[in-house]
Amino acid sequence: MRKLFSVACLSLLFVLICAALWYRASTFVPSSPTHAPIHRIQVQTQAPTPSSYSSLRTLGNIHHLLIGTAVNADALQHDSQYRQILADEFSEAVPENSMKMDTVETGPSHYNFTQADALVAFALAHHMTVHGHVLVWANTTIPSWLQHAHFTRQEAMSLLHDYITTMVTRYRHRVTSWDVASEILSPSGSLRPCYWLQMIGPSYIALAFQWAHEADPSAQLYYNDYGIDTPGQKSHQAYVLLSTLLAQHIPITGIGFEMHELGYVLIPEQVISRTLQQFASLGLSVSISELDVSVYPYRGTLQQKVQYQAHVYGEVLRACLSLPQCTSFTMWGFTDRYSWVPQFTHHLDFPLIFDENYQPKPAYYALIHLLS
Ligand code: XIL
Repeated sequence: MRKLFSVACLSLLFVLICAALWYRASTFVPSSPTHAPIHRIQVQTQAPTPSSYSSLRTLGNIHHLLIGTAVNADALQHDSQYRQILADEFSEAVPENSMKMDTVETGPSHYNFTQADALVAFALAHHMTVHGHVLVWANTTIPSWLQHAHFTRQEAMSLLHDYITTMVTRYRHRVTSWDVASEILSPSGSLRPCYWLQMIGPSYIALAFQWAHEADPSAQLYYNDYGIDTPGQKSHQAYVLLSTLLAQHIPITGIGFEMHELGYVLIPEQVISRTLQQFASLGLSVSISELDVSVYPYRGTLQQKVQYQAHVYGEVLRACLSLPQCTSFTMWGFTDRYSWVPQFTHHLDFPLIFDENYQPKPAYYALIHLLS
């Protein structure tokens, strides 16, 4: 009987100890201060909420993805709020106009690097990568002094050679990658008529890559264009052009898909990623190089417009994230205050991820959410 009583007591004691241990394990008492409230330990099972991160660039780092933006030279110089967000949110800076030939080479062999130098200095001071834009841009006017000059083919070649060599050498080891040839195909896929094509012939493209490579063998060299992100004539011709150049060992390391979404066409992520994949299979790095999403063509309330915009930004980012070769997700600016789109289309528009007053828009949160 006494034995039975002892066993019962021991069992009760055991149950009590277990209960005490369980209670202690399920609560967390901070060691100090003594009167602090008791908290339950929270096991984080969900993806972190946007507010738990400071920026796009932090999240991009986790995916080894550069989050880039075109940089407006005036804003960089005069707008401190612009500079703050640029440094906080972005890991890659692309000169919107500061490295274009008509900005830099103001006369034959006469250079003005003020804007370009300022951008590179700012970017490096804030641990950002610089992507140089652009050595040869076929879809634009060339500097007026060049337009009015009468050069021979040989002179035009040495002019382009000097320009490329000067730019790439000056920023060697500071500009990591370059758009060497941009918008060189017309919408039909043929070579776009331009000064260099007219003066040098189609070989100007291969020569530009070779000269850039000679000036900085470590720089990544990109072909960049719009209208090649979905299947079609232009995309096909771009593929043919790049395969041909690569077969000739022309040093091309990547392809930039501009993705100025200026018309209302909803392109599903799968379609974009399939096209990106095709180019990546040539051994190229891939980047989204100039994304902005016009809301003007979308019929709806302002609220619906910004939601649609967020959706498009999200689809493009998802396509990029689905591909290991997609190394940079770059937008053509970040605040509606300085977007080039309204001037280009002559419509009131809001194509970027921060509004005119630097408030993040749904598109910003869509990117944060996806990167999380
Ligand atoms: C645009 C700039 O954003 C404008 O400020 C400038 O007036 C014209 O050029 N594709 C490109 C970019 O490759 O260089 C263009 O930038 C936009 C289209």
